[in-house]
Amino acid sequence: MEKQRENFGSKFGVIAAAAGSAVGLGNIYRFPCEAGENGGGAFLIVYLLIIVFLGIPLMLSEFIIGRRSHRNTVGAFKTLAPKTVWPIVGFVGVISSFLILAFYSTIAGWTLECIYKSLINFYHGKSISEIEQGMTTFNNSFRPFIWQTLFIILTAFIVLRGIEKGIEKYAKVLMPMLFVILIILCVKSLTLPNATEGLKFFFKPDFSKITPEVCISALGQAFFSLSVGMGVQITYGSYINKKDNLLTSSTSVVMTDTLVAILAGITIFPAAFAMGISPKAGAGLAFNTLPLIFNQMAGGYIFCLIFFILLAIAALTSTISLLEASVAYFVEEHAIKRKKATIWCAIGALIVGLFATLSLKDNSNLVIGNMSFFNILDNLTANILMPVGGLLITIFIGWRLKKTAFIDELTNQGTTKIALKNIIFFITKYIAPLAIVTIIVGRLVFNIK
Ligand code: PHE
Repeated sequence: MEKQRENFGSKFGVIAAAAGSAVGLGNIYRFPCEAGENGGGAFLIVYLLIIVFLGIPLMLSEFIIGRRSHRNTVGAFKTLAPKTVWPIVGFVGVISSFLILAFYSTIAGWTLECIYKSLINFYHGKSISEIEQGMTTFNNSFRPFIWQTLFIILTAFIVLRGIEKGIEKYAKVLMPMLFVILIILCVKSLTLPNATEGLKFFFKPDFSKITPEVCISALGQAFFSLSVGMGVQITYGSYINKKDNLLTSSTSVVMTDTLVAILAGITIFPAAFAMGISPKAGAGLAFNTLPLIFNQMAGGYIFCLIFFILLAIAALTSTISLLEASVAYFVEEHAIKRKKATIWCAIGALIVGLFATLSLKDNSNLVIGNMSFFNILDNLTANILMPVGGLLITIFIGWRLKKTAFIDELTNQGTTKIALKNIIFFITKYIAPLAIVTIIVGRLVFNIK
C-alpha cells in the first residue's frame, strides 16, 4: 500500500529546493560570525578547500543514496544495507535535523523582528549603539518566543502542503531574488570609506592563523551551510528524477551556496570596518551591520525591508528541509499520517527551541560552563554530529555501497557520460573520510578547550 512518492517537477526545482535548504542564515549570519572569529582570510581558505574536497563529494553522495533508495534518511540505509547497523546513521541525522530546527528557529525569528523594525522605520538615523541596544532589549523581552513560534507554524504549514506544491513552488522564485539584492548590497558596501580594510581581512590569508580550531570551525560551517552530514540532502535526493545529472545538480547547489556566503562576507566585512564594528561581533555582525548600510543608501527603507523579508524566506526554505527530514522519517518508517507527523515534530522542535531562545537572555541560567544551551546545540550539531555523520556517509558510499553502484547511479545507468567519475569516487572513498578524521582528531588532540 505504499503510496506513489512525489518527485520534484523540474531539474531547476531540485536545485532550487536543495539550494534553498543550503542557503539560509548559515550563509548570511553564521558564516560571517565564524569567519570573523577565526581570522578572516585564514578561515576562508580552509573553508574553500573543504567545500571542494568534502562538500561536493558529500552532497553528491547524499543525492546518490537518496535517489537510489527513494526513501527517507533512515529508510535509505535500510534499503541499501538491509539488516545492518547503517540505519543508525540515518537516525542520528534525523535527530540532528530536529535539534538544528530547534535553535535555528530562534535566529529565524529574529529575521521577523527585523522585518517589523524595518516596517516601522526603527533603523532610520540610528547609531550602531542604538541598534545594538534595540537588539538587547528585544532579546530580553518575550518577543523572540512569539516570532519563533510564528516561524515554526509557517514552516509546518508549508511542509503540510507537500513537496511540489509547497517547497518547490516557493524556492524557485525567491532564491534568485535574494541573490540579486545581495549583489546590490555588496556594491554599496564596497563604496563605503575604509572598505578595503574589510576586504583585506576577509581575503588575505594569514597562514599562521590556521589552527586546529579554525579547521574544525570551517568544517562545521561548511557542513552546516551545505546542509550535509545529516541526511537532509538524502531526503531531497530521494525526490530527484531518475534522469537528472546528479553531478551537475550537486555542484550547482554547492557553488550557489558558497557564492552566497562569499557575497555575504564581501558585504558585511567592509561595512563592519567602515562603521567601526569588530569582526568578532558575533550575531551582531549581520543583524546590526546590515541596517547601518541601508541607512546610508538611497531607498534604504525599502531595500532594508525587502532584504529582511528575503532573509526570512531563505531561513524558511532551510527550516522546511529540516522539518521535512523528520516528517518523512515518521511518515515512511512508522506509517504516521503526514499531518500528524508534521504537527508533532513542529511542537517538539518548538519546545526544545524555546529553551534555546531563553538561554540567550542576559543572566540566563540555561548555561553550562560559559556556553548557552543555544551554543551547545549549535556546537553539538555543526562541530560533532554533522562531521561524524558526513564521515559515515562517505564511508558508506566508498566501502559499503561500492564503486559499481556509485558509478551506476552517477551515470544514470551508463546513459550519461561523467568524465571524472573515477577520481570523484577515489576522493569520496579515501580523501574525504581521511580529511574529516584528521580534522576531528587534530581538534581533539591539539586543542582541547
Ligand atoms: N544550511 C542551512 C543554512 O545555511 C542550515 C541547515 C543546516 C539546513 C542543516 C538544513 C540542514 O542556513
